[in-house]
Amino acid sequence: MFSSIGVIGAGTIGRAIAGHALRAGMSVLISNSRGPETLTAVVDRLGPGARAVTVNEATAADLVVLAVPFVNVPAVGAAVANWQGKIVIDATNQFARSNPYSGRADIGDLTGSEWVAEHLPGAVIIKAFNALFGQYVAADPRQAAGRQIVFYAGDDAAAKAGFGQLLDTFGFAGVDLGRLREGGRLMQLDGPLSGLHALRQD
Ligand SMILES: NC(=O)c1ccc[n+]([C@@H]2O[C@H](COP(=O)([O-])OP(=O)(O)OC[C@H]3O[C@@H](n4cnc5c(N)ncnc54)[C@H](OP(=O)(O)O)[C@@H]3O)[C@@H](O)[C@H]2O)c1
Repeated sequence: MFSSIGVIGAGTIGRAIAGHALRAGMSVLISNSRGPETLTAVVDRLGPGARAVTVNEATAADLVVLAVPFVNVPAVGAAVANWQGKIVIDATNQFARSNPYSGRADIGDLTGSEWVAEHLPGAVIIKAFNALFGQYVAADPRQAAGRQIVFYAGDDAAAKAGFGQLLDTFGFAGVDLGRLREGGRLMQLDGPLSGLHALRQD
């Protein structure tokens, strides 16, 4: 279903997901805040199939991964001309500060991804990967005892079905937790599934 992936944020999580996409034969458009010319080394390390682009250009891909500090999400939202209909995997955690990541952003009653959705008007948001420590996102998910579980949540059933298939292709075991409201709450910082690294025995 997805043949290209646009990655916004070229740090630990963005590069880890880009790696899985490339190994699955997808093309990768990767971006950061400082511009494509600063991503030469990152793209060289990722290898053939990866290209450095602007944030706006990254959203031309079939699927977009949002992997920036939570507090920078409004800037990402504003950098894109049109979010309408874009499927966005939200990997953010709602830290109030980055470098180092710390504190909790006050977003009232909203879950983190509901707040993200407000800044990406018209985008279809799926929350995923945020609950795992970066090294478990990057690693081969197929382990001797089973496949690494990735929890995900979202309000669009068709988009989630496609994403579930993609997780399977990457080698992860996806677990659909329902909507952004209920599932997102379970997965986000301080939720019971945050930081839970689990394997599915096949
Ligand atoms: N690391 C983990 O273990 C982990 C696990 C799960 C979830 N997360 C979450 O995933 C997100 C990314 O974490 P990370 O550890 O990958 O972060 P990171 O290593 O600090 O990298 C952040 C990336 O975001 C880019 N960025 C920042 N502001 C941007 C903007 N306005 N537009 C475009 N790109 C922007 C940065 O580019 P520049 O350097 O050019 O500014 C950098 O490439 C965070 O929300 C974090 O909470 C992290």
